Amino acid sequence: MNIVAFLGSPRVEGNSDILLREALKAAEDTADDVLVFRLNSMNIMPCQNCGGCDKTGVCVINDDMQEISRAIREADRVILSSPVFFFGLSAQSKIMIDRCQSFWCEKYLLKKTIPSGPKGRKGLLMLVGGMKKEVGIQCSEVTAKAFFRTISVPDHETISFLGVDAKGEIRNHPTALYDAFDAAKRLIT
Ligand SMILES: Cc1cc2nc3c(=O)[nH]c(=O)nc-3n(C[C@H](O)[C@H](O)[C@H](O)COP(=O)(O)O)c2cc1C
Repeated sequence: MNIVAFLGSPRVEGNSDILLREALKAAEDTADDVLVFRLNSMNIMPCQNCGGCDKTGVCVINDDMQEISRAIREADRVILSSPVFFFGLSAQSKIMIDRCQSFWCEKYLLKKTIPSGPKGRKGLLMLVGGMKKEVGIQCSEVTAKAFFRTISVPDHETISFLGVDAKGEIRNHPTALYDAFDAAKRLIT
């Protein structure tokens, strides 16, 4: 099974990172291949809406998104772990998602979906917000849902934690690490 995971936080050892590491522990024994993309340290230009992918479904920009696109194509499971920034996904997450416009063209204009393997394609979204306002989760969720459906991931589960702000504070949450591990177990089995 191929698992592709995206970290949308700029903080190494931050809350989203800790959740992702915990989730990937669940995959250690079962996964054939786990690819983790730490988006903050990658060279990914924002989508230019140049129309370059309209007729081909292939982005014309040559940067690290090419590697991500290849990984998405081969993924059985996709994980996105992101903080809530300004009531939505982090810029790091959103830039990567916007660049999936090429998949959108492939799917909705060229009418091709990414074929799934025998285990289907599924997703997991993990969100952390420092405030206690649900709207940040709701806005992030709708964007992530559009992302998952665009890359032909028909189902995903979301787990989210609010009121977790300081770096690493998620470790003090009574259930978060278990929740991440359990959600990943459900994802891969
Ligand atoms: C630029 C910025 C914007 C933020 N906006 C929100 C927000 O709208 N809602 C919220 O709940 N938390 C917000 N936060 C707090 C983060 O979600 C919180 O610190 C989170 O724990 C960061 O996760 P990380 O350690 O994985 O980066 C914001 C933080 C930053 C730096």
